Amino acid sequence: MNLQPPSQKEAHFVGSSQCNQCHKEEHKHWTNSLHSKMIQDISKNPDVVIADFTKLPKDADFTLAQAVYTIG
Ligand code: HEC
Repeated sequence: MNLQPPSQKEAHFVGSSQCNQCHKEEHKHWTNSLHSKMIQDISKNPDVVIADFTKLPKDADFTLAQAVYTIG
């Protein structure tokens, strides 16, 4: 379900680095805090996966190759 208001259909995520242009101090604090690491893209840094995917339960219905983000 797409909950984006019609007036914002063309809007898209520009990335946090854009905010740094005007909010240098806030961006520095955020980057050095755990908040910036809450959701991480595995394709940009595979090292963020700390779980051992070689030891998944037999009935697991997912693989590491399907994982996109880490949370936490
Ligand atoms: C081109 C400059 C510019 C960029 C880029 C920019 N901002 Fe801002 N932002 C401002 C200005 C100017 C204000 C108003 C500051 C004020 O009222 O003191 C503001 C205000 C804000 C506020 C409200 C702050 C408050 O105290 O109410 C938030 C939250 C915010 N920006 C977040 C962001 C985020 C997140 C991004 C990146 C996605 C971003 N901004 C990118 C210029 C920018």
